[in-house]
Formats: sequence, C-alpha cells, structure tokens
Amino acid sequence: MKDVSANADAKRLAGEAAAELVKSGMVVGLGTGSTVAWTIKRLGERVKEEGLDFLGIPTSFQAENLAIACGIRLTTLNSHPVLDLAIDGADQVDQNFFVIKGGGAAHTREKVVSCSAKRFVIVADESKYVPKLTWPVPVEVLPFALRLVERRLSDLGGKPVLRLGKMKDGPVITDNGNFVVDVDFGVIEDPKGLAARICGIPGVVEHGIFDNLDELYLAGKGGVERIGRS
Ligand code: A5P
Repeated sequence: MKDVSANADAKRLAGEAAAELVKSGMVVGLGTGSTVAWTIKRLGERVKEEGLDFLGIPTSFQAENLAIACGIRLTTLNSHPVLDLAIDGADQVDQNFFVIKGGGAAHTREKVVSCSAKRFVIVADESKYVPKLTWPVPVEVLPFALRLVERRLSDLGGKPVLRLGKMKDGPVITDNGNFVVDVDFGVIEDPKGLAARICGIPGVVEHGIFDNLDELYLAGKGGVERIGRS
C-alpha cells in the first residue's frame, strides 16, 4: 500500500539506512509498519544485488508476507532463539529511550522478537521523537478478560478504547487471536512504573511500552541521525 503520510520520505530514509546494518550470516528480526517496510524492501534488494545472505524472523503476518515477496529467507524463534539484530518502527520514542509501539497491533510479537535480539534498532521520522510519551498505549487483551482489563486500566488513570476494525465490523483481532485496547494516559511521567502496573492486570497479554531500545535511526529534512542509548 502506498504511504501518503506527510512524513513518507523521512520514513523511507530512516528505514533504508538501517538496512545497511545487516551483514551476511545474521539472524534479523523484521518489524511491522510503514517505516520498517522500507528496511525490508531494501534488504530484499541487497539479497538480489549483493547476494546478502541472512535469515529474517518476522513480527507479524504483514512482515512475513512482505519479506517473502522481497525474496528474504525466513526462520523461526524456535530454530534461532537468539537474534543478532531486530529492526522495527515506533509510534513514539522519548528522550530516555522509552518507546510506544503497537499502532499496527503487532507489539506482542515485536516485543518477543526484539527482546530476543542482541541489538534493537528503531527507525522513525523525527516527529516521533518527543520529550515525554503521550501516545495512547496499545494493550493486547485476552477477549475473555476485556471488561476486567478495561476497569483496571481506568483505575490506573487511563481511558481505554477497544480498537475497531476498518473494513470489518467489531474489534481488531491480533495475529494472536486477541483484542487491542488503546489507552490514553495523557502525558506519561513514569513509563517504567506504568508498564509494571499494566503487566499486573490479569488478562493482559502484552502492552506497547518498550524499554529495550539500543539505537534510534531518526530521519528528517536534514537526513538520518543515529542516536544511541546514553
Ligand atoms: C506495529 O504494531 C507498530 O509497533 C509499528 O511498528 C508502529 O506503529 C510504527 O508504524 P509506522 O512505521 O507505520 O508509523
């Protein structure tokens, strides 16, 4: 699908730049979304042009399909439990390297894959790098537990909204067969504490707050900047 967003050029720049990190022999996590899609496409070109020989582990059905279309060889976490690198997009990244992901409802697998990697790189346009996180936190929920989880998220000060399908009546169903609730917490002053409290709710499968980012590839009009964890 064509990305017509205002930041489409920056997404492409960041995504393609990170594709240069991949070397032959690596096992690489392939993220989900419109920015990392550029990474996957560029990796496909490198396979054809240079004979780059690596194995990918996709984080979603979308990433898997794109990787197959690009001619990338795939493996599984079962066969390759430790990855050299994972590359993915983000919805927001703060100055302390806390990240919100899950705009595509893939954050559970994205977290499992990125936590299995020795190095986790995020690709994003510069609008996503913010002083403090404000993006609604996606929370994947066991359908059976929906009402309990919604109540507990409200008790934490959030405003939970069940994510609905665009061309389907009813809720979005994740690749794992669950629902997603987007929870507006306003400005998130303590992402680590909030993450721990959300994890404590019975029926929560995974939330979209990540604390394992190593490097950010951020693109804007001036090009791509690489920001390491300080
Ligand atoms: C997928 O669930 C998300 O975590 C995406 O990686 C995130 O929403 C970024 O997507 P874009 O690159 O399309 O903005």
